[in-house]
Amino acid sequence: MSPRSALKARPEPAPSKATSRPNLLLAWYDRHRRRLPWRAAPGQASDPYRVWLSEIMLQQTTVKAVGPYFEKFVARWPDVAALGSASQDDVLRMWAGLGYYSRARNLHACAVAVTRAHGGIFPDTEEGLRALPGIGPYTAAAIAAIAFDRRTMPVDGNIERVVSRLFAVEEELPQAKPLIQQLAATLLADSRAGDSAQALMDLGASICTPKKPACSLCPLNEDCIARAQGTQETFPRKAPKKSGTLRRGAAFVVTRDDELLVRSRPEKGLLGGMTEVPGSDWLAGQDDAAAKRQAPALKGLSRWQRKAGVVTHVFTHFPLELVVYTAKAAAHTCAPEGMRWVPTATLAGEALPNVMRKVIAHALDLPPRRSS
Ligand code: ADE
Repeated sequence: MSPRSALKARPEPAPSKATSRPNLLLAWYDRHRRRLPWRAAPGQASDPYRVWLSEIMLQQTTVKAVGPYFEKFVARWPDVAALGSASQDDVLRMWAGLGYYSRARNLHACAVAVTRAHGGIFPDTEEGLRALPGIGPYTAAAIAAIAFDRRTMPVDGNIERVVSRLFAVEEELPQAKPLIQQLAATLLADSRAGDSAQALMDLGASICTPKKPACSLCPLNEDCIARAQGTQETFPRKAPKKSGTLRRGAAFVVTRDDELLVRSRPEKGLLGGMTEVPGSDWLAGQDDAAAKRQAPALKGLSRWQRKAGVVTHVFTHFPLELVVYTAKAAAHTCAPEGMRWVPTATLAGEALPNVMRKVIAHALDLPPRRSS
């Protein structure tokens, strides 16, 4: 019998407290935690406002993209009461570029609710948090754990990946979510719930990565079923993705000297309340002639020029392709009803979604802006 199999043949000792999975994770976190602007220093209490703000920003956005936005927000609005007394327009303007603008509207509504209905103090339970605008089950669990050390495990994509590998969960996502949630909860330490959660998030972001995970550095590697099988990269199991149908449309970029014609999108729905140049409907199978007939009517306008190429953008539910037309309006031309002229020099301060930044850059031959 080889020494190794002899060892195997002995009954496994019960894991000691120090080598339990939750404690291994915390010990790893204490050495390798990422320094993130919203995180309290080790041993310091978290600020619920910063935790909440970061969690809303991190919904569907990467840690890297969120960093500068988080810093800008807390510099301008250092607490929830300050944010609650800002105008929604100012909040949307500061948010521009982060995407998913309903989050910014809910962020503002939540700050108003916490200020007015809770005296500026965030509720400290998942249930209380969930009653606030923009806080769903994941975000409530994250804030409850990180800001208030409630013993709950928020499960994001990183944690899903770590857990599905550790336990080799064969069920496909999204059906596997309840099972993964249960398994993830077994990784909570008796105290420091927020650190347990953030340890798993960091492990997923830095070691248990989607491709080529660095298993040799993982504190849970000896316990990982997928690693033992050599199948770690195949988890989590996922049903094949259905991508939305391509929608098409036209965008009309009208300039009047150094000004641009814009309008605000309806409050409800995709990019609600954001600024855009006038455009056609965005429809699957939209034909170019039908889209062009939706051009705005202005007196004394030059002929529409079609820009070569198209602007493409991918929303969560569908990809979009826009044909861009440009035209020049004579000085003093009035904006059609519901539209307005804005100086191109102040465009950066408008609540322009990325897709519109791309359209304007394409129309005016500006260098493409790095998208976040
Ligand atoms: N993703 C969501 N919440 C996070 C957090 N608190 N730390 C790191 N990544 C996160």
